Amino acid sequence: MRVPAAARTLRARLTAGLVVLLALSCLAVGLGTAAALSRFLVGRLDEQLAASGGRFAATLEHEPHRDGDEGPDARGQAPGTFGARLIGGSVRQAAMVRAGGVGPVPLTTADRHALAAVPADGRGRSLSLSALEEYRVAAVRGDDGDVLITGLPLGPVEETVHRLILVETVVFAVVLAAAGIAAAAWVRLALRPLRRVAATASRVAELPLASGEVAMPERVPDTDPRTEVGQVGAALNRMLGHVENALARRHAGEERLRRFAADASHELRTPVAAIRGHAELALRISEPVPPEVRHALGRIQAESVRMSELVDDLLLLARLDAGRPLESRPVDLTRLVLDATSDAHAAGPDHRWEMVLPEEPVTVTGDARRLHQLIANLLANARTHTPPGTHVTVRLAVRGGTVVLDVADDGPGIPPEQREEIFQRFVRADQGRSRAAGGTGLGLAIVQAVAAAHGGRAELAAAEHTVFRVTLPVSGG
Ligand SMILES: Nc1ncnc2c1ncn2[C@@H]1O[C@H](COP(=O)(O)OP(=O)(O)OP(=O)(O)O)[C@@H](O)[C@H]1O
Ligand SMILES: [Mg+2]
Repeated sequence: MRVPAAARTLRARLTAGLVVLLALSCLAVGLGTAAALSRFLVGRLDEQLAASGGRFAATLEHEPHRDGDEGPDARGQAPGTFGARLIGGSVRQAAMVRAGGVGPVPLTTADRHALAAVPADGRGRSLSLSALEEYRVAAVRGDDGDVLITGLPLGPVEETVHRLILVETVVFAVVLAAAGIAAAAWVRLALRPLRRVAATASRVAELPLASGEVAMPERVPDTDPRTEVGQVGAALNRMLGHVENALARRHAGEERLRRFAADASHELRTPVAAIRGHAELALRISEPVPPEVRHALGRIQAESVRMSELVDDLLLLARLDAGRPLESRPVDLTRLVLDATSDAHAAGPDHRWEMVLPEEPVTVTGDARRLHQLIANLLANARTHTPPGTHVTVRLAVRGGTVVLDVADDGPGIPPEQREEIFQRFVRADQGRSRAAGGTGLGLAIVQAVAAAHGGRAELAAAEHTVFRVTLPVSGG
């Protein structure tokens, strides 16, 4: 069976628990009072039976209009009083006081046996005869050795007890309903501080804590150490303090690392440029140089070109991380796409290149060099990470204030396990293939950082074939 969510809340459970406890108490009180009342009333009947001491039964001996007797004496007997006289263990006479006088009671054989079995000790016991309703009877031994049984009806006792139960049921139902409402209100009131704790915790949970500088002004207002909820609130506040400290330390660490990356790549630029320049210079010497030396110089030159590109990429990322403002000018994105695609065509003539451009030129505000780099990185990926003959489509569109740039290819696609992290730095889907293609894994990180710096975003839109999608605001970031 499924419990509805509302019934699982602490409030609902506490309220239900209180009501159930109260209902059990009411039940115990009800049963107790009914039992006590019943005992008391039956006790009173027994007292009456003891007081009458078989007087009515004794008068049954005198049958009316015989020997001048005046018959059974019903005087002082309550209507319903039953009397029986037994001689030698068998019933001789049985009669009952009725409104108009005394009348005989027709007894069955079973009734006679039941009456004969009543011990003549004067004590009250309950008996049910088929001729009568439930009765309380007591038997005493008469003067001449006969047994005199007197009975009083239990009906009125049962009626009184039933009435009590009815009244109690009504009263308890009203009390339970009122108590339920009151308990719900009270529990709600008592749990209000807990809700404030939960509200604080969920506000904190919504804060962007993943990176950067984080301010956590949220604190729980109820911190009375004398209450349990106050202790929870105080503990949560202490924890928030620790988390805030840890986040501040993390931010400082991130800052240091970012500055280190920026400084290191900046410092590396000059020596790398010098190596490259010297290698080029040496290669231009016209005097005969041994071929191994020429080959080595060629390698030095090629690798220093690659290294200076890498250093530039690192420096750009470090600057974008630090939130350095980019240039902010109108940029004709259509023009950039045309140029970049024709460059890509020249670099990869074996691929089939296609452009889908809107009629109107698309303009954004931003840094033309960085945006060119963004497009070039995506096109370079579509060229270097796919086999020759791959169809690459560059699609530019404007949809409701957003520029959408799609670079799609029908190459091998990105393995599913890498789709999450493909935009991270130094991540390459196929290590062997990419290294052969000369990739370092910074291209997509730059695409994402440049898009973000322009107030847009970059994502992998489809994956079985690759579609990288960059969205930028038309007006620029
Ligand atoms: N169009 C694509 N088709 C298949 N795989 C791709 C495609 N684009 C990117 N990838 C995969 O994503 C990885 C990361 O790309 P990214 O551009 O960040 O790095 P890279 O191309 O390896 O190196 P870099 O661009 O820095 O020279 C690539 O190594 C490649 O495995
Ligand atoms: Mg790349």
